[in-house]
Amino acid sequence: MSMMRTKPIEVVLAQSGDPGDEGPAGRLRRRLGPLDLMGFGIGIVIGTGIFTLTGIEARDHAGPAVIVAFALAGVASLLAALCYAELASSVPTAGSAYTYAYATMGEIVAWIIGWDLVLEFALGAAVVARGWSGYLAQLFHLPGAFFGEGSTVNLGAIVIVLLLGAVATVGIRQSSRVTNVLVVVKVAICLFVVVAGAFFIRAANLTPFVPPARPVTDDTAGLARPLSQVVFGLDPSAFGVAGVLTAAAVVFFAYTGFEAVANLGEETRRPRRDLPLGLFGTLGVSALLYIAVSFVVVGMVDYRQIDRGAPIASAFDAVGAGWASALVSIAAVAGLTSVILVDIVAIGRIGFAMSRDRLLPPPVGAVHPRWGTPYRTTLAVTVGIAALAGFVPLSSLANLVSIGTLFAFVVVSVAVPVLRRTRPRLSRPFRVPLSPVLPLVSALACLYLMTNLSVETWLRFLAWLAIGLVVYLGYGRRHSRGAEREPAEVS
Ligand code: ALA
Repeated sequence: MSMMRTKPIEVVLAQSGDPGDEGPAGRLRRRLGPLDLMGFGIGIVIGTGIFTLTGIEARDHAGPAVIVAFALAGVASLLAALCYAELASSVPTAGSAYTYAYATMGEIVAWIIGWDLVLEFALGAAVVARGWSGYLAQLFHLPGAFFGEGSTVNLGAIVIVLLLGAVATVGIRQSSRVTNVLVVVKVAICLFVVVAGAFFIRAANLTPFVPPARPVTDDTAGLARPLSQVVFGLDPSAFGVAGVLTAAAVVFFAYTGFEAVANLGEETRRPRRDLPLGLFGTLGVSALLYIAVSFVVVGMVDYRQIDRGAPIASAFDAVGAGWASALVSIAAVAGLTSVILVDIVAIGRIGFAMSRDRLLPPPVGAVHPRWGTPYRTTLAVTVGIAALAGFVPLSSLANLVSIGTLFAFVVVSVAVPVLRRTRPRLSRPFRVPLSPVLPLVSALACLYLMTNLSVETWLRFLAWLAIGLVVYLGYGRRHSRGAEREPAEVS
């Protein structure tokens, strides 16, 4: 029984079904077009990042050049998106990175990535649900005992997760409609912030654009220090070019999630054309909005005075337009709602793909005969996420979402040149230019960003992967469909 066995591409394509063909019961339904994919993408990408990190990073690391930090993080995301687009257009499947790894690097790597994606999406949804509850409490003056970070039972978080889990269970069209409405609200408010804020920009606030570097008195210690500091002895820096790079690593969080689009390959009517459109459209819109919003914020307020917690609302307060805070809170609530929904949708597809390969028990991936969704996985993860979000203070675990995402990006970037070599004649509707150079730059950029995360995050991440390995050795390795294919079909 080889843990390195791969899944033949032909099997992946046969299981995903032909585009245009509804397929037998047990398959997901093809209902989505390019705009739906962009809706899901923007739905999961634009969350708290832009509403919080802009202030912290302008003030602590980059000054007005936080705009450049958003652009650089956008470029790193674009490199990963190019790799996702090549694989998603040539092997459209529900499992995304998990399946690409299975086809190129072997079952054990695939399992690890699948397990990693469960962490990314489930933990992401739970962390965001608690944030959602906090914003709602702020907006409607609700009692902190049931909505705040300090609550014993976070009722707000539990209710929103259960509601959205129900939407994700009853259909991909329903999920898409709800997501699209929320996306329109948050994008409209971001655009409004840009247009209204532009009138208050003062050139003086934008100079010096890159404040001169200065050493910082770093109060982080021990395991909270970034891995790069501990391993390479790099000193923390504020401002200057190094400060902008540090800020880029932090604001990368604001772009995470776009890759969830690749999980909808079996529900997209024309996946080979539309998956790349969905990925690039999501990233393009998000990057433009992020750059524009951060430009307006640092243009409105001197970076030394920007509010760390609520940079956008307080920028408007500072120019006497206090009504904007309610608007920004509405955008945040709408934004966070769609993040949770798309997280739940994505994780259902990953569970579906892993159970189809028998790495998880087959009943887990069953598709509902009427709704056409992997309802059991979706319901099970909904309950799990609601329990996590309701009872565990998770905010300190948010960085695990970033490390999980980056790890998947590294594997997907490496999978591109590997698949080019092993399957040179595979039809690739979209090709990453300059492969293997760009995929390797993408992998290195993601590894660099990973080293900026704390040692503590790395240890927690490795512990999660170790648990995954035990589950694999105890179940998946023996039950895997790959084991049935061996030795005849192993490639
Ligand atoms: N990208 C998401 C956000 O900014 C996670 O909240």
